[in-house]
Amino acid sequence: MQVTAVPDLLDLFSSKGAMQYGEDVTQLQHALQCGALALAEGACDALVLAAVLHDVGHMLHRDAAAAVEQGDDDRHEVLGAKWLSRWFGPEVTDPIRLHVQAKRFLCARDPQYHDRLSALSRRTLQLQGGPMADDEALAFERLPFALDAVALRQWDDIGKVQDASSPALSDFMLLVPRLSQA
Ligand SMILES: [Fe+2]
Repeated sequence: MQVTAVPDLLDLFSSKGAMQYGEDVTQLQHALQCGALALAEGACDALVLAAVLHDVGHMLHRDAAAAVEQGDDDRHEVLGAKWLSRWFGPEVTDPIRLHVQAKRFLCARDPQYHDRLSALSRRTLQLQGGPMADDEALAFERLPFALDAVALRQWDDIGKVQDASSPALSDFMLLVPRLSQA
């Protein structure tokens, strides 16, 4: 297990954080807003950090925007969770790994949820398998950290506001030493 999470995370956000990905905000703005929403709801430290880091897979993917354009699912949730697992345990990585499935789950359980999704999220939903069938939804909600993933997903859906104020990335990085496993 490596113990160099903070420099690697700062490097990633400084090289790719300005990326636009079809929403009104950059990856960095989206990450910070999701972290701020998690904090405002009193989420535990692991879930706050998961909210900040949930889309690192988009920044690690060589061209996530082109993947969506070409009709490919970039599987960013799996890529990101796997990359982060070198430092963090499942309390951070599982909500991230499950946050796309959580969108499919919410579409199955809440008919109005789909209508609240952004145009891009609706489009990627189709690439990601569409709403879950009943048996898939039942299996999903029994997974460890499924509820955390559902909470994260809902912050993900609204953390896309231009010029919203949020804590700095360095503030969230203070959580890392407490949560990374040496
Ligand atoms: Fe996101």
